Amino acid sequence: MSVGLSEEQLLVRRIKEGTVLDHVEPGRSLRVLSALNISGEEGNTVTIAMNVPSSKMVKKDIVKIASRFLSPEETNRIALIAPRATVNLVKDYKVIEKRRVELPEAFTNVFKCPNPTCISNSKEPIIPVVEVVKKTPPLLRCKYCARLLQPEDLM
Ligand code: CTP
Ligand code: ZN
Repeated sequence: MSVGLSEEQLLVRRIKEGTVLDHVEPGRSLRVLSALNISGEEGNTVTIAMNVPSSKMVKKDIVKIASRFLSPEETNRIALIAPRATVNLVKDYKVIEKRRVELPEAFTNVFKCPNPTCISNSKEPIIPVVEVVKKTPPLLRCKYCARLLQPEDLM
């Protein structure tokens, strides 16, 4: 825990309680919120910082969701969008848990299949599922049309 007040802390104030997603790939915080199904209408205070200077990454995004403790199942939904993210759970202004994100077995309702003729892109009410075939490097597959997908195909 840093003692001094860094530039970054001046940009986005510390939170009393909730989840901080740090070291998010620069420019991806809106996609992160979308993958987490956070629209803002839930009413929690959500602060985002985009493209801020970072010692570890040159630039990064930060997403702070107050009053919510996201589970590993929830934060793993961002594993392709923000593979280097650090998940910090904060209570009483202190970081009580710090973890990374890990690729899940499958992404349900996170990515749209890029195959325009896939049934998941038709008018049928189908929830898109992208399965993880291989973890390093990541290789994915649409559950419906079986098309093999690279992470870039989904970004
Ligand atoms: N944070 C916050 N509110 C708090 C405590 C921490 O918003 N009450 C944020 C910090 O601003 C930082 C992240 O949570 O973005 C992690 O905090 P901390 O572990 O104190 O920072 P670092 O040591 O810099 O983390 P790391 O080693 O993961 O880079
Ligand atoms: Zn498909």
